[in-house]
Amino acid sequence: MKLFIQPLFMRASVCMLLAGQLVAVAQSKPGTKARSVSTEAQVRQRAMGLLKQMTVEEKAGQLSQVFMFSAGPAAEKAVSNGALGSVLFVKDPAQINKLQRAAIENSRLHIPLLFGLDVIHGFRTVFPVPIAMAASWDPQMVEGAQAVAAQEARASGVHWTFGPMLDIARDPRWGRIVEGAGEDPYLGSAMAAAQVRGFQGDHLGTPDRIVACAKHFAGYGAAEGGRDYDASEISDSQLWNVYLPPFKAAVDAGTGSVMSAYMDLNGVPATGNRWLVQNVLRDDWHFKGFVVSDADAVKNLKTHGYAVDLKDAAVRALSAGVNMEMALAKPAFAENLPQALKEGKISTAQLDEAVLPILETKIRLGLFENPYVDESRAKQVLEASEHRTEALHAAERSAVLLRNEGTLLPLRPSQYNKIALIGPMGDSKVDTAGPWTFANDVQETVTIAGGLKQVAPAGTTIDFAPGVQISRKFPSPFSGLMGKKESNWTDEQAKQEFDKAVTLAQNSEIAIMVLGEKQDMDGESASRSSLQLPGDQQKLLEAVVSTGKPVILLLMTARPLDLLWASAHVPSILDIWYPGTEGGLAVANLLFGEAVPGGKLPFTWPRNVGQVPLFYAHYSTHEPQNQAKRYWDEESTPLFPFGYGLSYTSFAYSNLHIDRPVVKIGGSVNVSVDIENTGGASGDEVVQLYIHQKSGTSSRPVRELKGFQRVAIAAHQKSTVQFTLTAQDLTYWSSATKSWIQDPAEFDVWTGGDSSALLHDVFRVNGAAQGR
Ligand code: NOJ
Repeated sequence: MKLFIQPLFMRASVCMLLAGQLVAVAQSKPGTKARSVSTEAQVRQRAMGLLKQMTVEEKAGQLSQVFMFSAGPAAEKAVSNGALGSVLFVKDPAQINKLQRAAIENSRLHIPLLFGLDVIHGFRTVFPVPIAMAASWDPQMVEGAQAVAAQEARASGVHWTFGPMLDIARDPRWGRIVEGAGEDPYLGSAMAAAQVRGFQGDHLGTPDRIVACAKHFAGYGAAEGGRDYDASEISDSQLWNVYLPPFKAAVDAGTGSVMSAYMDLNGVPATGNRWLVQNVLRDDWHFKGFVVSDADAVKNLKTHGYAVDLKDAAVRALSAGVNMEMALAKPAFAENLPQALKEGKISTAQLDEAVLPILETKIRLGLFENPYVDESRAKQVLEASEHRTEALHAAERSAVLLRNEGTLLPLRPSQYNKIALIGPMGDSKVDTAGPWTFANDVQETVTIAGGLKQVAPAGTTIDFAPGVQISRKFPSPFSGLMGKKESNWTDEQAKQEFDKAVTLAQNSEIAIMVLGEKQDMDGESASRSSLQLPGDQQKLLEAVVSTGKPVILLLMTARPLDLLWASAHVPSILDIWYPGTEGGLAVANLLFGEAVPGGKLPFTWPRNVGQVPLFYAHYSTHEPQNQAKRYWDEESTPLFPFGYGLSYTSFAYSNLHIDRPVVKIGGSVNVSVDIENTGGASGDEVVQLYIHQKSGTSSRPVRELKGFQRVAIAAHQKSTVQFTLTAQDLTYWSSATKSWIQDPAEFDVWTGGDSSALLHDVFRVNGAAQGR
């Protein structure tokens, strides 16, 4: 019997010959919640039934994915032949349905395609970039943002995102710092779980949600020299205690897929690394979803000098535990695995094991019942005004106030009637939306200029001058995917524009400067050797400050830039990141006090690039009293510590209370602290808890974040925040025993508003060391 799929909008019960048996499946309109959830056993049985009917070529096809923009018409042919299981980078519902029709109507077994896209910080509605959302220290907000992204993507026919990116980044030269949650495994794990829940809902197959993909497994953020794609050498202790925890959190939150990374990890390419993909991910963590390689990472096994040829690369990636190959075109899996099977290089069991979780994912998503997307519904979901409201809220909550001398901010209404807005990103929609945006309507983006015009009191004039033009020395390889290229200024024009901006500042009452990096200066293949403001921005900043007008510096960037000069000369500095579709409005609300900054840094801010890598959770060693003088030419402490951020009000901490001075190994300790809003305005504080283990089987970092809560406190009010430190919080991986361990030891505890918090107490853990 030929499989017949009814038109998508019909509510009906269809009988489908699937898995060699007749299965009645309730079909529902997309977006409704009528599907019943199948048990794991039912899903497995159905997938097994299908697997039994598949040829070797069809199996290899399910393990293969290509980019539509590079594979072209060959991809459609492969879909019709059942030689392709997934495609990426299609976002138009009509095109998705067309390709899906080829899979459903033409391929022998009518297995639906899985459509993937990098939905990193929004789809049509763009949220702040992930590093910004991490700076909100508000996992609930982040979960909501990714749920919106999922709804918009799914309404357009996309089933699967390549996110969240969970790479710990301790070197801000690395461009992909923009996509993660920064330097800390505790904050990173909280953001990982929140994003997985946001994308997927409470289970894989939740209506209107998409499959998450925890990437890049693992260690990509430790690229040597911060150079994207370069190898990582990470000690076991760093891997287990720092780089892997966010991935474990994503697996525990139920991520449906994981992406293997590009680079060599300790001499073995991640995509061919069986220890990583099989032993850690599957055997230790019991991950049940599927692993996709990064783009062309399977073929790269040859580039690494690891595999002999593409067949060997395919065999070794599959044998390491990679299920699906992402390829620009001509996947090595589809082209080589059938032959490798014939030659006995892989077994049928291996192949089947790789295919099963992919089929199971398609079953769980309901794609066999509802393969198509309702093209007429997409528009309505993409234009939902609530989504824009959530994006506005997210951008307001992500901003970090780094400096506010003389309380220049918030601006009082009508205090300044003539505002100069200066800087290359001040009225740029593409940059305000940020990198990794492929499905938005860039025209909808509210720039800083646009936001100020909406929020400033009537009668205020806002004049804009870009002042300088900035660009990369080597253009981004992705420049064709996003935005239009501006034409370059001549030297004469550059001089005129510079002078025009300085004159504008002179003739205004205040200058708001938007400086930082264009969106293509952060992201993939966007690493830098310097942290200076690119181009002539520093010169422009100094010239505008020297006019004597008050200056507010808005930083549009994802990495900590060199602010040594600015932090001494510019009264107000607000890190606005790449704030997304509603970014300009959010920034204007923050400047005029309609919203109060409450974000905190998710990384340590170095004084200059020479300090990199610099992170708070370092170890104590010889002469710790000279920690600030490790260099003779500059202080070795950060410019701003991890967790730092100001508000328009102030907070005082008191009454740090630990409920017991001594706890038995395996037990928990409760910690509470009072926070008082001592300023005149309501505001949010991110209350942070740090510990330090004072002795043990291994030495431990000087501080480790083990709890945080963002709380809103009204002016002159007090709040008490409670934390529980469990045995798990006190357990770490020791390179002395090569195992997880909890030691009997004394612990320091600090609570406060950043990682330099001073409010301190101790407790002791008694008993014999315990392994796990
Ligand atoms: C390469 C990137 O490393 C990865 O993060 C992304 O998901 C894929 N390209 C697909 O765009």
